[in-house]
Amino acid sequence: MQTQTGALLHQAHMTTIEALQSLEEYLGANRKTPAVDELAGRRLKQLSAILRSEVESHFGFEENHLFKVFIEQGETGIVTMLTHEHRSILPLALQVADLAAAAAQSGFTDATWSEFKDAGAELVEREIFHIQKEEMGLLSAISALVDPEADAELAEVYRREVG
Ligand SMILES: [Fe+2]
Ligand SMILES: [Fe+2]
Repeated sequence: MQTQTGALLHQAHMTTIEALQSLEEYLGANRKTPAVDELAGRRLKQLSAILRSEVESHFGFEENHLFKVFIEQGETGIVTMLTHEHRSILPLALQVADLAAAAAQSGFTDATWSEFKDAGAELVEREIFHIQKEEMGLLSAISALVDPEADAELAEVYRREVG
């Protein structure tokens, strides 16, 4: 059984996975520092916005609202594990988002491209792994632990705070 909250998280996960996959393609397609044309600039800007929203609003919702419900029910193991992963993804995602936004404005130098490439590849790996884990474990845990009333409230909070 799918919950409203689970459906909203799932939607955001799919958007992020898509963005990470196109980041991976972009990194793989450019062995040397690429010129940033208008289309690439738009994509980098979009990537930056998706990454920021994922690690600021989406992670924030999970930690400040959803995980609280889990902790109240004594489900601390999954919360500790996922929160730990958020801590390791967040600074990396912001670094990639900042580099992408800067490159959208004024292109890459060899140094910023190399930084972007390394941080981006690491981010793709960590975040896809994290999302896969949530898709496998978290969504069914929500169905099991969150009653319909609490689900409707959480979904409302998500729409308000994350969009
Ligand atoms: Fe998530
Ligand atoms: Fe998460």
